[in-house]
Amino acid sequence: MTIYRACLLDTPEDPFTGAALRTESDGALQVIDGKITDRGAYTQVRSRCPDDDVIHLDGGLLLPGFIDTHVHFPQVRVIGGLGMPLLEWLDRCALPEEARLAQPSYARGVAADFVRGLAQAGTTSALVFGSHFASAVDLLFEEAAAVGLRITSGVVLSDRILREDLLTDAQRGLADSLALAARWSGQERLRYAVTPRFSLSCTDDLLAACGELMRQVDGALFTSHINENVHEIARVRELFGTDYLGSYLRHGLVGNRSIFAHNVHPADSELAAMAEHDAAVAHCPTSNAALGSGLFPLRRHLDAGVRVALGSDVGAGTGFNLLKEGLQAYFMQSLLGADGMPMTPAQLLSLMTRAGADALALPEVGDLSVGRRFDAVWVRPVADTVLDVALRHAEDESEALARTFALGASADLASVWVDGEVVHQR
Ligand code: GUN
Ligand code: ZN
Repeated sequence: MTIYRACLLDTPEDPFTGAALRTESDGALQVIDGKITDRGAYTQVRSRCPDDDVIHLDGGLLLPGFIDTHVHFPQVRVIGGLGMPLLEWLDRCALPEEARLAQPSYARGVAADFVRGLAQAGTTSALVFGSHFASAVDLLFEEAAAVGLRITSGVVLSDRILREDLLTDAQRGLADSLALAARWSGQERLRYAVTPRFSLSCTDDLLAACGELMRQVDGALFTSHINENVHEIARVRELFGTDYLGSYLRHGLVGNRSIFAHNVHPADSELAAMAEHDAAVAHCPTSNAALGSGLFPLRRHLDAGVRVALGSDVGAGTGFNLLKEGLQAYFMQSLLGADGMPMTPAQLLSLMTRAGADALALPEVGDLSVGRRFDAVWVRPVADTVLDVALRHAEDESEALARTFALGASADLASVWVDGEVVHQR
């Protein structure tokens, strides 16, 4: 039994419906076997548990583990390809690198770089877009299990338009996915995600196989891309004769375990259908800005009742740091003017923690309440860095959190835990 003494911040209730940031400036969590079993002011928790070891996390902030709802494993080494819109960036930057993962020796190195990058950034749970090669996804799961992160992933499926070496067919896609799910789903902290790349690169046959996989793989999530770039959207309409969501809907792929990345340009009818089917959207602001995809209509999503969480979309996104995604999400809403949704620090924190857990169907994490698993991030900048100075001079916890979004980077995270186990330490 261990007590963690720290300044605690989290968002157990939805700040988008008026709930405040929850704070405990000299707080404590009791953790037994990776689960939070008591919480409150340090003096009170200590008096209830006088014999426990105490870990003093002096200074900084203790936050729930960050949850990345959209990030590409094979793209960690090509982050930073700027100056291209989506389809050109895929052809010139992402897909040539993704083809290199056919080689298991190369894929093993990429898996190590990727999982380390997540842990260093405080990402304790992620929905990970895998590789087109089942052998590479195997290596990703192996590495995630070794490091201890909560990872949901799967083999990426496409059977048209992309370069030939990345394509599969419905029969092989089904077999590869079932084999991977049988090997990994439910092992350690791992789950399976049925992952067609986007309907632009999938025939109806392949999307039908995805529907079959959702029926066959217990507890699977579904993930893909949607409505990211106006040229892409026009081509999907030509191919399917429907709006983008319709290409997934017709195969039963839109449900409460579906997470769609981007949705920068949705029709009102698509938002209504997403809400009706309780699907979630992964908003990826640095990616949208880097590829010039557009400004995410957050208010329209929330007004329609569509769940939204945050994703880094590495490697179109500019890194694993979800604090930066939060800041960029804030900028984007401010650029939208009257159509934007000005966000508080509590709302930004919720997008990368509580809302992420909700989108990924992970009720055991997302905040620091009694009963949750101890997945946490200790933001503790090195002494005299600008963030350290800013935190020491903050008036209150909300201001400290705003400064963390403005300035925070992976180097500012001193420790990261999953289930009470340290997965990264500076
Ligand atoms: N649409 C299909 N594939 C991708 C990808 O790798 N990144 C982004 N941002 N969009 C996509
Ligand atoms: Zn993506």
